Amino acid sequence: MVQGQSPTASRFSTRQKIAEHRKSLPIASVEKRLIEEVNNNDILIIVGETGSGKTTQLPQFLFSAGFCREGKMVGITQPRRIAAVTVAKRVAQECDVPLGQRVGYSIRFDDSTSSSTRLKYMTDGLLLREALLDPLLSRYSVIIVDEAHDRTVHTDVLLALLKMIQRARSKPVNERSEIGNASGENGVQRNGVLRGCQGRKVSPLKLIIMSASLDARVFSEYFGGAKAVHVQGRQFPVDIFYTAHPESDYVDAALVTIFQIHLEEKPGDILVFLTGQDEIESVERLVLERLKHLSEDKRKLQPLAIFSALPSEQQMRAFAPAENGFRKVILATNIAETSITIPGIRYVIDPGFVKARTYDPKKGMESLDVVPASKAQTLQRSGRAGREGPGKCFRLYPESEFAKLEDSTKPEIKRCNLSNVILQLKALGIDDIVGFDFIDKPSRGAIVKALAELRLLGALTDDGKLDDPVGYQMSRLPLDPVYSRALIRANQFNCLEEMLITVAMLSVESIFYDPREKREEARTSRNHFASIEGDHLTYLSVYRELDEFLEKKKSAGGANKIDKSMKKWCINNFVNNRSLKHARDTYRQIREHVEQMGFNVSSCGNDLLEFRRCLAASFFLKAAQRQLDGTYRALESGEVVHIHPTSVLFRAKPECVIFDELMQTSKKYIKNLTRIDPLWLPELAPHYYKAEE
Ligand code: CDP
Ligand code: MG
Repeated sequence: MVQGQSPTASRFSTRQKIAEHRKSLPIASVEKRLIEEVNNNDILIIVGETGSGKTTQLPQFLFSAGFCREGKMVGITQPRRIAAVTVAKRVAQECDVPLGQRVGYSIRFDDSTSSSTRLKYMTDGLLLREALLDPLLSRYSVIIVDEAHDRTVHTDVLLALLKMIQRARSKPVNERSEIGNASGENGVQRNGVLRGCQGRKVSPLKLIIMSASLDARVFSEYFGGAKAVHVQGRQFPVDIFYTAHPESDYVDAALVTIFQIHLEEKPGDILVFLTGQDEIESVERLVLERLKHLSEDKRKLQPLAIFSALPSEQQMRAFAPAENGFRKVILATNIAETSITIPGIRYVIDPGFVKARTYDPKKGMESLDVVPASKAQTLQRSGRAGREGPGKCFRLYPESEFAKLEDSTKPEIKRCNLSNVILQLKALGIDDIVGFDFIDKPSRGAIVKALAELRLLGALTDDGKLDDPVGYQMSRLPLDPVYSRALIRANQFNCLEEMLITVAMLSVESIFYDPREKREEARTSRNHFASIEGDHLTYLSVYRELDEFLEKKKSAGGANKIDKSMKKWCINNFVNNRSLKHARDTYRQIREHVEQMGFNVSSCGNDLLEFRRCLAASFFLKAAQRQLDGTYRALESGEVVHIHPTSVLFRAKPECVIFDELMQTSKKYIKNLTRIDPLWLPELAPHYYKAEE
């Protein structure tokens, strides 16, 4: 006999292990009670510690209790793509079914469901889009809004919409049409949610709101005193350590701490909270470099990145156990606070920062700033060290700083550009945005600004109705309204191919890879991509060159080595392989969307003048003109801005540019620019520029 287990035996033991794991979760002991509560309450709020089994188990309980009879689905929404994917994979494995069958997930640009899917994990944004096609979400018997404490703008809008849908679905069929004519509390949705009701038989909808934070009150109050139940978690003690003095460079401090733990502490994996892809990748490289200076036996430390833009097969690597004898160090953004649980963590390093979006409606300026995390976030982070046993958390700031942190994070809806959600609400037939029943109302200024922007982009008519066809087309595209508008424009300018590539490239972070020590070398080897017309055209040539290279490889018969060739090409050209992969995926997906809308993807070839004119016509709200002192003035807001040093136009300083992003760090910078002729603006956007003059 060969040693080891037969495949059947190993599968059997895996199943047994999973069954034991499921039974050991805190939520397992309250299955019956939870199902009773769901039966008795149309809205239920479940609060439980991270790791207690809410996300993976409750949907399975509901399935067993018969909530998926007659082809109905249980939908579980997540604020983050990565959580939707990893959890669906895990649940499919627990159910011992192939992913995409009974258990599936659906996120923007990636759908893994089928007609047999009954437990569907998805992003909250995706469920909002589904409501555009099926206003009553009639295929769902239960919708679970998970991670509600995160209060993303999509979660907030979804909660309001679900409240409405639930009310509509609880009315007897013959009464539903009446609601549409009454002037209800939202000024009423004649063409959206309620249009979907008329004359159709749809069973009532159960709503479950799940949250990790302790403050369930806000949800309970919003849903008219809905019942809240608490699920006990399992938490081991975590020792908290602070630094004696403030750290001037928290990345460096994190690095030092990683190695201290690795060299001095008992086995157990490390979780480090960083703020974004750039930071994570730079720490990843630095860890690998420093390891080279250690003796062979001390090198068993394996850095693994996890952030939302990471392709999912790479994300999954963080979940696998480390190689034999290795210690994992997971470098994560705040997605590892509550959304995902990585087994094996004993040590948490928390520099105390997070990248947060802020928006100033007056200036039309959105910025992603690194800001101190809130107390609630900090507590969640340290809790991650005590899931499987006692742990340690190293906060990289003095204890006196902790008291100064905000208690909790401000809901995103109060600090973001609203044009995207307002466009979706309009497409759902909700016209009175100011009167809409949000949990936390966004400021009136932000609403007014977004409405004005949508009107200027042509998505809304002068009286605030969705424009036909432009507004409808824009609402169907899962993109920022400015980008959707750009694609529709490009269709008219016959450069849709170029715009698809550009939008895909603008949708990913960090296209270029700039190691600190090799900055000059990187610049030189990338010189041939650079276009004197600006960054958009530069990205276009990166994308095209890679494409040509891969085509050649393929026709030379190397189709199975494409991944490797691409990686090599990226390294040689100092381009970020992960980002390019992501951009190529995004391109394919958006292309499918526009083709479904009946657009013909044509290219302007080498006539890039036409493409630049199209960029000017699309991004006319984001134009800036050089002033005598060499600074720029953003034409819409009047702000004084500077060209970001990473732009290929940083030195050229052309007279007039359009830009993709206006952000504030040490100065107000514009990023991703294209040189344009100032006369194009009144020619191509007369409705805006003629009036301005
Ligand atoms: O939602 P909640 O935080 O309450 O817990 P969960 O996500 O359902 O996870 C319950 C447990 O399942 C975790 O503590 C992990 O041990 C395990 N799990 C896993 O091993 N792999 C995943 N992808 C998700 C969960
Ligand atoms: Mg969860």
